[in-house]
Amino acid sequence: MKNILVIGAGGQIGTELVPHLQRLYGEDHVVAADVKPETCHSLRAMAITEQFDALDINIYAQIVKKYRIDSIFNLVALLSATGEKIPQLAWEINMGALLNSLEIAKENGCALFTPSSIGAFGHSTPHQQTPQDTVMRPGTIYGVCKVAGELLSDYYFTRFGVDTRSVRFPGIISNGALPGGGTTDYAVEIFYQAIKNKRFTCPLPADSYLDMLYMPDALNACSQLMEADPAKLIHRNSFNVTAMSFCPSDLYDDMIKRIPEFTMDYQINPVMREIAASWPDSMDDSCARNEWGWNPVWDRQMMVDDMLQAIRIKLSVK
Ligand code: SER
Repeated sequence: MKNILVIGAGGQIGTELVPHLQRLYGEDHVVAADVKPETCHSLRAMAITEQFDALDINIYAQIVKKYRIDSIFNLVALLSATGEKIPQLAWEINMGALLNSLEIAKENGCALFTPSSIGAFGHSTPHQQTPQDTVMRPGTIYGVCKVAGELLSDYYFTRFGVDTRSVRFPGIISNGALPGGGTTDYAVEIFYQAIKNKRFTCPLPADSYLDMLYMPDALNACSQLMEADPAKLIHRNSFNVTAMSFCPSDLYDDMIKRIPEFTMDYQINPVMREIAASWPDSMDDSCARNEWGWNPVWDRQMMVDDMLQAIRIKLSVK
């Protein structure tokens, strides 16, 4: 990777992936792009920035040529809960940005990373130690796009030789930009509410187990997979990756150990409950470990301590 374009750079992953890639490859070698002008305004403070709509293939192709891009990180997506409110638009955006990225990667010889998700699985998938290769019949439009995206990306690799690679991200916990519209967002929001108000109303049931990753591990997953020796990759689109599996009551227990006054109640969001119940409780990520050395370092206790410290600083709370 020499010249990198990150599209959808203004979101939860992009705002941290851009500086991560800058540290690895140099500031002049990373271009951040987003569709929203206000997001681009803040991205400009940290990176070379272009504002455009990835659904417009002509402008997208011009940007790739302008910066002689050889690697694209496609982070454009509506998440699972938002997708259920506007399924047709979710398909248009999620699949449109991917198809344009694949075509542009094919024409310009670029490698392409597009995250998939635990959302690619559904009720009929084994929920414990979900295997790498298993039943994939998701019940959300987000998941349908992820499965279709995995298949399409593998198709472009086998049919046209495009270097497509991907991981199935679980919920990502971070203290930079907020996630938005995801089923796993509670695991980020709880920290802000715990510090600001010492209370949190959880939208998922207490025993709703889901896989999670702390952002530093998620960033390493992106760069390590893209740097992996292609000869060692048996899979491409897409690898299970996880570092921890927990439920809201586990996180509550962690929180009261550190903030004894903390209280949590439940106001269940039925759409999110249904989505979470259809996703794995814990994934088997041994293929990622064996094929490209995936080895996350952040466990739940380390993550909770670091999140509380970082958000206290961010909110200027002692
Ligand atoms: N974090 C995503 C969501 O909840 C899952 O990939 O939609």
